[in-house]
Amino acid sequence: MYQPLHLKYRPQILSSVIGQQHIVDTLTNAQALQKIAPAYLFAGPKGTGKTSTARILAKSLNCQSSQEPTTEPCGECNSCKGITVSSSLDVTELDAASNSGVETIRELISTTHFAPVEGKFKVFIIDECHALSNQSWQALLKTIENPPRHVVFVFCTTEVNKVPETIISRCQKFDFRRVKLDEVINYLAIVAKSENINISPVAIKAIAKASKGHLRDSLKLIDQASLLNAEEIDPIDPGWIWELSGTIPEYELLTVVENIIQGEIKGNLGILQDWIEFGKQPVTIHATLVSFLKDLLICKIHPDGKHLTQLEEDTWSELITISQSWSINQIQSAITLLMSRQSIMKDEAAHLWLEATLIELVPPTPAPVENTQPWQNWETYKDALYWASKKLPHLTQNEISDLWEKVTPINGKKALAWVKAINSLQKVEMKKA
Ligand SMILES: Nc1ncnc2c1ncn2[C@@H]1O[C@H](COP(=O)(O)OP(=O)(O)OP(=O)(O)O)[C@@H](O)[C@H]1O
Ligand SMILES: [Mg+2]
Ligand SMILES: [Zn+2]
Repeated sequence: MYQPLHLKYRPQILSSVIGQQHIVDTLTNAQALQKIAPAYLFAGPKGTGKTSTARILAKSLNCQSSQEPTTEPCGECNSCKGITVSSSLDVTELDAASNSGVETIRELISTTHFAPVEGKFKVFIIDECHALSNQSWQALLKTIENPPRHVVFVFCTTEVNKVPETIISRCQKFDFRRVKLDEVINYLAIVAKSENINISPVAIKAIAKASKGHLRDSLKLIDQASLLNAEEIDPIDPGWIWELSGTIPEYELLTVVENIIQGEIKGNLGILQDWIEFGKQPVTIHATLVSFLKDLLICKIHPDGKHLTQLEEDTWSELITISQSWSINQIQSAITLLMSRQSIMKDEAAHLWLEATLIELVPPTPAPVENTQPWQNWETYKDALYWASKKLPHLTQNEISDLWEKVTPINGKKALAWVKAINSLQKVEMKKA
């Protein structure tokens, strides 16, 4: 029977949980020291291992291969097997999203007084616990504060801000993180290998990026991609990944940014239309644009700051060129403009707002042909060099740098001297031509 990868690869022991080292270490130590808390709170983004870890904890507490809680549940005994298929008599899993009412919780509490049947603990895993009603929390409060010795609660949630403070303060809280890009890439490579999935490292990286640290999403994507590639003639193409994940490839973002500089409004509206037609959500498009402009800003301020972004090498080098034509101010106002539209990206008319915003991002008047004070837009001497390289395209970068060294400031102003020098050189060139 076909089993989806994200279920097939659910970690069964703590050491297989990826990217949550701080949690794995703390839980391992707690078990070694036999320090079991009556209530745990697992908080963090979707698909990062909360439910999996809760089940592992339950197995560790109840594994029949050991007298005490063990960091290595056997996976073979009745208790371990029961937990894997959610049929253990001592482990209750409740999805609070569909059972938020106080009646369910009262019933659950009433069972806490019975001794466990086959294991040592009765474990209650309350998933999506932020959905519980106020009354339900009230009902739980007393039990959590003073639980029978054999009872352990594990609350899991993606929205810890909705969990009452009184509960949080009575739980041992663990913050799950989004898994780092490198760790996702390594993990996917291992899964692809053991599943014989024909996929290139570039496509794996595309999946890892698209899933933004949510490991479940990354496994689902690689699963989908491998189904598309059932013939297995060619390795899975990164382009498919962008399509499947609804994310936007970097080269398209580069084009949008270039179009903004060149005043190519039509080009950008065309790209936007394609995105929408291919089912990309305005919210996603908006967030992607903001994030890309932030990367452009980083690039402008720290040309060697690629590691601060998740961009590809070649995208970064193109951004370095593009960033010469934007001032820090321009980039910042573009981001501010986009951010001011954030709240309407879930509107029905969001795509129209996006169109309007893309038009507004293009400066209204084209830059004057002969700007007499071009240095107004320069922030470092590199901008001056770049400006000169546009005027004197036949010169190499080295020749231009040389010139820069040689130019003597006028009244202490090098930029002024530079502009005069370059302009006169340009005139000479034009006469020659
Ligand atoms: N940290 C992780 N290490 C290894 N696999 C993981 C990890 N996080 C998620 N996975 C994979 O994703 C699947 C779903 O994970 P899990 O159910 O534990 O996520 P969750 O944090 O409870 O998500 P949700 O908030 O959506 O319920 C697992 O079966 C496993 O394949
Ligand atoms: Mg879960
Ligand atoms: Zn066992």
